[in-house]
Amino acid sequence: MTQHIGIHDIAFATGHYALDLADLARVHGVAVDKFRIGLGQQVQTVAAPDEDIVTLATAAGQQILARHGSDGIQTILLATESGIDASKAAAIYVQDLLGLPNAVRAVELKQACYGGTAALHLAAALVARDPNQRVLVIASDVAAYDLDSGGEATQGAAAVAMLVTADPAVAVLDPVSGLFTSNVMDFWRPTYRSTPRVDGKLSVAIYLDAVEHAWKDYEARGGHRYTDFGAFCYHQPFTRMAYKAHSRLLEINGCAATPQQLDADLLATTHYNRMIGNSYTASLYLGLMSLLDHTDDLTGKPVAMLSYGSGCVAEFFSVTPVSGYREHLRAEANRAALADRRPISYDRYRALRESAQTGAGGDVEFDAVTTSGFRLSAVTDDKRIYQPVAR
Ligand code: HMG
Repeated sequence: MTQHIGIHDIAFATGHYALDLADLARVHGVAVDKFRIGLGQQVQTVAAPDEDIVTLATAAGQQILARHGSDGIQTILLATESGIDASKAAAIYVQDLLGLPNAVRAVELKQACYGGTAALHLAAALVARDPNQRVLVIASDVAAYDLDSGGEATQGAAAVAMLVTADPAVAVLDPVSGLFTSNVMDFWRPTYRSTPRVDGKLSVAIYLDAVEHAWKDYEARGGHRYTDFGAFCYHQPFTRMAYKAHSRLLEINGCAATPQQLDADLLATTHYNRMIGNSYTASLYLGLMSLLDHTDDLTGKPVAMLSYGSGCVAEFFSVTPVSGYREHLRAEANRAALADRRPISYDRYRALRESAQTGAGGDVEFDAVTTSGFRLSAVTDDKRIYQPVAR
């Protein structure tokens, strides 16, 4: 059984609109620095009405298939916590839109923001069983909180697609994981709600405790020493959360968490999340992409990864970039994807949120807005209809 398994390719897609948090700060009656410095967020992606987790996931997956084709893909795992159906896997729509063969298994996974990490590890296990197979893992989410709530400043939307294979070209998934699960009510979304219930302060405290527990389990299982890591990447509901989490890790390891040290260890992981917002399952992997795109050379240096999903599950693990990985990145396309978003005013954003029709039942047609590969054109008889975007 090969242990040399990991990320062969990684790509992201984000939504159509960009809302400047200065506009939200004005409406919330707070200083813009609360969002820019206190939360570490500048802009948030707002999905167009004809975008959802399926269109985002498909746009990310298309980039992977454009490079590698679909040969050998026997499984597509889609992680999300903003699911569009309580029964049918969103992965099936994506399998269809991507033109993947019918001879695949397509499954949706859920555990809040941790789901993408669960999918990555399951994918690696499938490849360990049969190194000839490749697994398409996609983490896709649209994060929306109640209007005027504290969480509104942390919204966002994105999907990250990863091709998991033997002998990967980007990074190997290292074998040791530290785990932590605890039944807590920090953030949850009953099926009748389109936005989560959240106890924001509790969620921050539990996330930090989960970092500590997952790290201690990782140490106990014989993982890398703290000083072995070349970089640190955390789930980023807002980028300052990574700073809080890393301060906790430094503290546990008896190191001083100076602002300079924190910036040196984390800044490179925050560029995309700062401009997109929370993308739940995709957020940790956007952090990894930002790190790889903004760091000179991490070949052979383990990158610590901390995945947290409210409720809660956390995992501390690592990936190690392999020789030549930089040739497989998409730094320019990634920056263009952010720059291509259309600015949206607060009033327009609010109008979109207040008129959102999905989830309400009944037939609905959506205006053609998105410029990504596919759009949600209608919901008819409770069936979602996706169409290619006219070019
Ligand atoms: P809040 O009450 O609006 O903000 O909610 P605050 O009063 O805590 O202020 C935030 C920070 O801004 C503070 O910094 C302030 O001091 C600072 P801190 O003390 O924490 O270091 N601040 C300023 N800084 C500079 N200039 C100023 C200024 N004013 C204030 N003028 C909260 C913040 C995060 C609670 C809220 O946004 C929220 O509820 N968000 C949603 C929940 C969340 O993101 N939780 C994070 C951990 S849980 C998680 O990561 C899982 C999740 O992704 C979901 C999943 O797993 O599915 C959310």
